[in-house]
Amino acid sequence: MDFQNKPQFPLLLVFVFLLSVSPSVLAQYSPRYACDTDKNPSLKSYAFCNASLDFKTRVNDLVKRMSLQEKAGSLVSVADSINRLGIPSYGWWSEALHGVSDTGPATWFNKTIIPGATSYPQVILTAASFNESLFNILGKVISTEARAMYNTGVSGLTFWSPNVNIFRDPRWGRGQETPGEDPLLSSRFGVAFVKGLQEREDGDKDRLKIGACCKHYTAYDLDNWTSVDRFHFNAIVTKQDLEDTYNPPFKSCVLDGNVASIMCSFNQVNGIPTCGDRELLEETVRGEWKLNGYISSDCDSLQVMFKDQHWAKTPEEVTADALQAGLDLNCGDSLKKFTENAVKEGLVKESVVDRAVTNNFATLMRLGFFDGHPSKQMYGNLGKKDVCTKDNQDLARETARQGIVLLKNSLGSLPLLPTYIKSLAVIGPNANATKAMIGNYAGIPCKYTTPLEALSESVQTVYEAGCANVLCNSTDKFEKAKNVAAAADAVVLVMGTDLTVEAEALDRTEIDLPGEQNLLISEVAYVARGPVILVIMSGGGMDVSFSKCNPKVTSILWVGFPGQEGGAAMADVIFGRYNPSGRLPMTWYPRSYTKTVPMNDMNMRPDPTTGHPGRSYRFYRGETVYPFGYGLSYSLYIHRLIKAPKLVSIPLNKAHGCSSSSCTSFDASGDICDGLSLDIDVMVTNIGKMGGSHTILLFSYPPQVIYNSPTKQLLDFKRVQLGPWERTSISFKIDVCKQLSVVDKDGNRKVGLGRHVLQIGDIQHSVSLKI
Ligand SMILES: *[C@@H]1O[C@H](CO)[C@@H](O)[C@H](O)[C@H]1NC(C)=O
Ligand SMILES: *[C@@H]1O[C@H](CO)[C@@H](O)[C@H](O)[C@H]1NC(C)=O
Ligand SMILES: *[C@@H]1O[C@H](CO)[C@@H](O)[C@H](O)[C@H]1NC(C)=O
Ligand SMILES: *[C@@H]1O[C@H](CO)[C@@H](O)[C@H](O)[C@H]1NC(C)=O
Ligand SMILES: *[C@@H]1O[C@H](CO)[C@@H](O)[C@H](O)[C@H]1NC(C)=O
Ligand SMILES: *[C@@H]1O[C@H](CO)[C@@H](O)[C@H](O)[C@H]1NC(C)=O
Repeated sequence: MDFQNKPQFPLLLVFVFLLSVSPSVLAQYSPRYACDTDKNPSLKSYAFCNASLDFKTRVNDLVKRMSLQEKAGSLVSVADSINRLGIPSYGWWSEALHGVSDTGPATWFNKTIIPGATSYPQVILTAASFNESLFNILGKVISTEARAMYNTGVSGLTFWSPNVNIFRDPRWGRGQETPGEDPLLSSRFGVAFVKGLQEREDGDKDRLKIGACCKHYTAYDLDNWTSVDRFHFNAIVTKQDLEDTYNPPFKSCVLDGNVASIMCSFNQVNGIPTCGDRELLEETVRGEWKLNGYISSDCDSLQVMFKDQHWAKTPEEVTADALQAGLDLNCGDSLKKFTENAVKEGLVKESVVDRAVTNNFATLMRLGFFDGHPSKQMYGNLGKKDVCTKDNQDLARETARQGIVLLKNSLGSLPLLPTYIKSLAVIGPNANATKAMIGNYAGIPCKYTTPLEALSESVQTVYEAGCANVLCNSTDKFEKAKNVAAAADAVVLVMGTDLTVEAEALDRTEIDLPGEQNLLISEVAYVARGPVILVIMSGGGMDVSFSKCNPKVTSILWVGFPGQEGGAAMADVIFGRYNPSGRLPMTWYPRSYTKTVPMNDMNMRPDPTTGHPGRSYRFYRGETVYPFGYGLSYSLYIHRLIKAPKLVSIPLNKAHGCSSSSCTSFDASGDICDGLSLDIDVMVTNIGKMGGSHTILLFSYPPQVIYNSPTKQLLDFKRVQLGPWERTSISFKIDVCKQLSVVDKDGNRKVGLGRHVLQIGDIQHSVSLKI
């Protein structure tokens, strides 16, 4: 989203008396809710207000009654009111990435009405839990708070979350908002979260609890890097990368999550702005994937197309291109300003405008916006009492606990035992963090539990910030920090970043800890008498090799931006009240990575001719600081393969164009795929003394028969809870065509014949696919 163009809300109502054809009582009327027939019984005569008719009939009736000017006013993020039809102004832009947020102008907090909402961990940490039911529960709880705010009049019904862009480069300031670098995890997160937000408890699939939006479509993951910014960035993307990396989360959002909206991004893809690309929008999102909902622009992509990208000579031409490409809604006001003239100049047909208006209003109908006062509807009883409940806040703590990743743990370090540790030095610029814990796209949290506050509940603490802030550009306070460290039984250092280092519109140039943080860590560790626990609070990965190799730093934890209860969750892990179980959802690269590949190089695949080392665990083969999927526990889990085929026969014949021994792969979309799957059963045993949750990641190393295949890819994952010495068997059903396939140069999915090596935890097993 672009804050420069943040529209004011609510806008002054625009009265259009001249066009008024309805009873005069309506012309004087400023409705709060559409079709509020209690206040205005004459609205009953409109078919669009008749809840017993189907949505299509109702929307058609409404669009038929509208003038071109009214239609144009309905295509923007602060949609005009149409008083003569009893329709209020509607603010489309709300946000709920990890809790209801006031980043969008259609949502606000107010001390007397609703002062704040539960602020969950930033998505990157939630993703680290690899817990799909948690992703779904979070969506449900957040949509309940959202609907409560809507009922109270302080929020809209359409939320432009989640962000499912691939965290392609460690420098990206918005990587924190995403589920990480893997297309499968991102897709699973997107689907589960979207369903949680949208699905109603009565199972009515036509209606929505709130509307979600998967953004930013597509290949958008650069905010500003040296002289390139997102408004001018032309992402050069191969068909192969688009199909197997950038687009899968969006495709899943639509096909499996039934998301109500897709947002196109600011950037261009291969020379065409995404919001003006008919192939990307109309043909793919609406045509192939069959989006049931609306396509929105970013804020304001159309202005960016005109002013920054010089896409067309006039704003009317930009408007026509975007509408024809499939855009329905414009965050900003360009479509309101230029649509009428674009139609009059013959650049776009009014029927195209009708399609856009129809998609927007159909979504609002599914949300109950045209069903009168919210108190008469499902979820109508939700209000202030349902926001920031104890249960919802407890879930913030639980989510952070499930995501926190233990990266290093020398024998006898963690968990700290209060019997031995009587005094704790708590040091670092994030040691008493509040706002830093909630990252971007946050709202106002119900409250904060800082690391210092939470740790102080278990043990006596002494606090020294060590640095004035995360930039840590001075060593002035190091002496004080060292003094408290030397006197304590153990040390917790809470370091990392905040939004001054990585954020929207702020990419990093380096991936080290900022300023003198490394020096503070090593000096404090040097004087410490007991365990030294380094906690990294950050969105992106960090080169922490210095501390990884330093034997005096006995443990390292990554806590992401852990949300309002982040401190409590950290203390739970540090004192062993929770057994860490998170896994890194992104590769942690060494600092040299940023020197070897420019951030605006979108290629996922390595290129020996340019020295590009490849991106993400699927393609990068170089050294890592910590790899994707890494994470330790206080327990030990062992895996045993119970069942897995060694050979799978594929019944290919001449009709498939692949039946001889010279054939190395087959099409992953044909009839051959029906029911073609393999079953894998694994026994997992917790052989530690502590109960905990454990994630089994199932990877495959596909045969290298398709040009530039990933060396490794995640096929599936499951998280299980096991008490001490408890064991359980876990079953995976692998769809051969969907999961074992890879994408070829032309963007088509193919299954390679030959040896697929599966990796399940620490087990490797080969399966041969043969004709
Ligand atoms: C609403 O539509 C139903 C079904 O067509 C019809 O029977 C009913 O009379 C309509 N109600 C009003 C108030 O027009
Ligand atoms: C908050 O809402 C109350 C009740 O509507 C209103 O009186 C007050 O002015 C609002 N405060 C702010 C800061 O907007
Ligand atoms: C990105 O923009 C921020 C301000 O928004 C600026 O401080 C920073 O220097 C920019 N970074 C780069 C790499 O251009
Ligand atoms: C820690 O932060 C909390 C919340 O901002 C504040 O009330 C408290 O005074 C801080 N503690 C110290 C020791 O600075
Ligand atoms: C360190 O940063 C602070 C602001 O965070 C600034 O006021 C100060 O000038 C900086 N000092 C140096 C030596 O860069
Ligand atoms: C997944 O999250 C839910 C919700 O917090 C929790 O009840 C469940 O135990 C978690 N599953 C595992 C295996 O940790």
